[in-house]
Amino acid sequence: MHFYHGDIVFSKNKKELEIHENSYLAVESGKVFGIYESIPKQYEGAPVTDHGRALIIPPFSDLHVHGGQYAERGTGMDLILSDWLSTYTFPEEAKFSDAEYADRIYKAFVDDMIKNGTFHASFYTTIHGDTAGHLIKFMEDAKMHGFVGKVNMDMNSPDYLTEDTEESLKETEAFLEKHIGGERVKPILTPRFAPTCSRELLYGLGRLAKKYSVGMQTHLVESIWEKAEAVRLFDDCSCDAEIYEKAGLLDNGPSILGHFIFPGEDDIRIAKKYNAITVHCPDATNNIIAGIMPAKMLSDRDIKITLGSDVGAGHGVAVYKQVARAVQLSKLKAFYEPENNGTLTFAEAFYMATKEGGEVFGNLGSFEKGKDFEAIVIDGVEDEGLPLSPANRLERFCYCGDDRNIIARYIAMDHF
Ligand code: GUN
Ligand code: FE
Repeated sequence: MHFYHGDIVFSKNKKELEIHENSYLAVESGKVFGIYESIPKQYEGAPVTDHGRALIIPPFSDLHVHGGQYAERGTGMDLILSDWLSTYTFPEEAKFSDAEYADRIYKAFVDDMIKNGTFHASFYTTIHGDTAGHLIKFMEDAKMHGFVGKVNMDMNSPDYLTEDTEESLKETEAFLEKHIGGERVKPILTPRFAPTCSRELLYGLGRLAKKYSVGMQTHLVESIWEKAEAVRLFDDCSCDAEIYEKAGLLDNGPSILGHFIFPGEDDIRIAKKYNAITVHCPDATNNIIAGIMPAKMLSDRDIKITLGSDVGAGHGVAVYKQVARAVQLSKLKAFYEPENNGTLTFAEAFYMATKEGGEVFGNLGSFEKGKDFEAIVIDGVEDEGLPLSPANRLERFCYCGDDRNIIARYIAMDHF
């Protein structure tokens, strides 16, 4: 048994934080054993890592992020989606055919994530399956949990990034075969979005989904243009989500639907039917997408919502910043469209970033008894002589903090 002492905070449920001030979190065989106000008699003498009154919280999960866009973050942010893709993103992603370049970027990205307390991520890479495999290796080395997808796109893209359909499917199958047995990081199918994928490609991916029993991530109803273009190209479907349903891409899970900003009733019905995980990416919304996910409405309808940095449409890796932005955007949404929308509480947004997100990757995301133990420790957010409650310190960290406030990281603690 090993004990960690501090102010322990995690999500009790979707709406409430659970807070244990000045307490001890017990870990046995890598799992949370319990939380105590003092060390129980029978464990006296057990080792204690004492963090004083610093906050001990679960690490963050990033459910939508582009490994191939790290080097362009914070540039081109005055463009909107289609111009940003063709001017900045597609030329950048083309560089990932070069293993040396890819390794440099992917390694830096994983380091930055760990530094910022993100221990779980669902990554898009680029069309290049070989270098996508290198990202898996860096994540495994860092002991992250994750999903990694080789991107598929065979139309409406520049020549240098347009795959031959058969080649794309072949390379995807090779990628699945090579990585399906991964311990913490698994492959996931990643058709970029409907406008860049032929029917043949999506149905081929659907066959691979069934054969290898793998999930899928994509961008769904992310802009008014994309939503209309999707059903124009797939005219047998009445909504974007039905395209993936018909192709058999939602059958295995996880089905991770990025953005989900403009869902119709049919998209919502299909997301619910397949227990899909939607991803709110607040910075990306602000920067290049121009639309706000109706997060409060969807959450009240029991749609699963997680958070994503969406680097490089989002400009930073810190998921805790997305917690703050999700609250901020819900206020704008409710102000301009009050009929259907309410505001998110801080606790609701934190839940999306930790418990809801963590559970996509395993027995993770909170400090309930039996969860795999992982944690980050937060300190230094109070002003001198002006103490704050644990809940207020956590909120201030998400709004005002940075990686310097993360004073310890516990990942893969199965040796305790
Ligand atoms: N839609 C299609 N590709 C992309 C991408 O790379 N980023 C974002 N935010 N949206 C997309
Ligand atoms: Fe994206």
